[in-house]
Amino acid sequence: INYTQPYRPQFHFSPTKNWMNDPAGLIYHNGNYHLYFQYNPGGIEWGNMSWGHATSDDLTHWQEQPVALLARGFPDNVTEMFFTGSAVADEQNTSGFGAGGKTPLVALYTSYYPIAQTLPSGKEVKTNQQSQSLAYSLDDGTTWTTYDAGNPVIHNPPSPYEEEYQNFRDPFVFWHAETRKWIMVSTLAGIHKLALWTSDNLKDWSHASFFGPFNAVGGVWECPNLFPLDLDSSTKWVMVMGLNPGGPPGTVGSGTQYFIGDFDGTTFVPDEDSVYEGNKSANWMDWGPDFYAAASYNGLDERMAVGWMNNWQYGEKIPTYPWRSAMSTPRQLSLKTIGGKPTLIQRPHAQIQSIEGKDHSSSWKFFEEGTQDLGSVGKTLDIELSFSASNATDFGIIVQATPDFKEQTKIGYNFTSQMIFVDRRNSGESSFDGTFASIYHAPLAPSYDGTVHLRILVDWSSVEVFGGQGETTLTAQIFPDRSATFARLFSNGGGVEDVKVDMKRVSSIWN
Ligand code: FRU
Repeated sequence: INYTQPYRPQFHFSPTKNWMNDPAGLIYHNGNYHLYFQYNPGGIEWGNMSWGHATSDDLTHWQEQPVALLARGFPDNVTEMFFTGSAVADEQNTSGFGAGGKTPLVALYTSYYPIAQTLPSGKEVKTNQQSQSLAYSLDDGTTWTTYDAGNPVIHNPPSPYEEEYQNFRDPFVFWHAETRKWIMVSTLAGIHKLALWTSDNLKDWSHASFFGPFNAVGGVWECPNLFPLDLDSSTKWVMVMGLNPGGPPGTVGSGTQYFIGDFDGTTFVPDEDSVYEGNKSANWMDWGPDFYAAASYNGLDERMAVGWMNNWQYGEKIPTYPWRSAMSTPRQLSLKTIGGKPTLIQRPHAQIQSIEGKDHSSSWKFFEEGTQDLGSVGKTLDIELSFSASNATDFGIIVQATPDFKEQTKIGYNFTSQMIFVDRRNSGESSFDGTFASIYHAPLAPSYDGTVHLRILVDWSSVEVFGGQGETTLTAQIFPDRSATFARLFSNGGGVEDVKVDMKRVSSIWN
C-alpha cells in the first residue's frame, strides 16, 4: 500500500482511504488486537457510518480489514447507521449466540435511524432515533451478524428521559466479575448524563443508575468508558467521556475528561476530589485539541486506550487525501497519587520500541540561553527530554522545522507557569480552519527533585507529549512541509541545568 502521501501517519493507524472517527469495539481476542472504527465507506467526510476494521498482533503494525458493519442500505438508501460501541468475548455463551463450541464476540453499538421505520423485530423507531443494538461474530471478529430478531436491544432512553431518544448512544460494555453481570454505560449526550445498565445475557438490559452532570459540561457528552485500575493496594474505577464542544482551556472543539471513583456493579460514585464544585474545572485526559472519543480494550489484563486524533471543530477539513483522521498511539493506563491526588497516568504502549532505531543522546550540565541545532533528524521520532530549572523562563525542542525554520512546531515547558506548551502557530498548513494555528498549554509540576521530563512522539502529522510520569498529556495535529525534518533545542530568558535528550527514529509500519 502507498502510505507516502503528504501528512500520512507513518506509525499511527489511518485508513487507506475515506473518513474515520471514533475507535469502537476495541477487543483483544485470540492473539489479535481488533480496532473497529467509525468509517464512511463512501466518502472523505462524515456519513454512511459503518464500522471499519483493522487488526494487529502487537498494537504497532496494523492491517486494514474489510468493513465489519456496513451502513444498512449503503450507498443509495441508508436506513440504519452503525455508531460507536464496544465488543466483548462471551466466553460462557450467556447470549446463546455461540455455536459449535465457538465463543461469540458480541458487539453493542448505537443504531442511528435517519428515517422512521418498522424494524424486522417489529419495533418501531422514529426519525433520527438512536437505540442500542447487538451484533455477533462467530469467526473471531471478521464478519458480523446483526441480531435482527431482537434489535434494538435497548429501544428508548430510561425514564424519565424518553425525550432524549435522538441523543442516546455509545454503549460501552464489560463483564463485572464481582456481580457476575454485563455492565453497559451509555450516554444521554444532550443532558450530560450517563445511563448504566446491567444484563445477564447481553440482550435484556435493566437500567441501574445515572451519572452526571459533573465538571466539564460543554456541548454533548459522548463515548463513555468505565474500567478498574489499581491504586496502591485498592481498586478504583475510572469513568472517561468525550465532550464536544467544550474541551480543555485554550482549545476549541472536542475534549476528553475522566473521573476516579468507586463502582459496585450498579452505580459509579466519583471521589470527592475528582469533582469540582460549580463545574469550575475538570480532570482532562489530554490537554491538546486532538484526542477524542477515547476507548479502551476489553480482553486484556492491562488497560490500553486509543483516541481519535482529530477534532470535530475542523476534522472534516484537514488537508489530507484520500483519507481523513488517524488514531492516537495506544496508551497504557494506570493510576498514581500525584501531588496528593489520585491521577490517571498514560504511557505509550511498550511495543513501540520494536519499530525504533538506535538512540542518539546528548547532554549538557548547563544549557546556555539560546539554541542548539540537532540537524535533520527526520519526521518520525520518539524523544525523551529531561531538564531542571535554573534562570530560564522556558526551555524545549523545535521539531518538524523546514531548513529555514520558518515552519516549526515548538514543544516546551514554562518554568514560571509550570506548564507544558505545544505551539503549532507556524507548524505548516493551517488555512483550513481559523482556530487551528494556536498554542496549547497543560499543567505539569516538576518531579520531587526538580526535574521536568517530557516524552514526545512525533509523526508526519501529529505530536503527542507525555509529561512527567504521564500525568499530563497533550496531543496536537500538524501539517508541515515534506522538508520539515529539522530539530533544535532552545532556552529563553536564561539557561537550564542537567539537560538530557534521547532521540530515536521510528520506522514506518507500512512497509
Ligand atoms: C463521537 C460521535 C459519537 C457517535 C459517533 C458517530 O465522535 O458523535 O457520539 O456515536 O461519533 O459517528
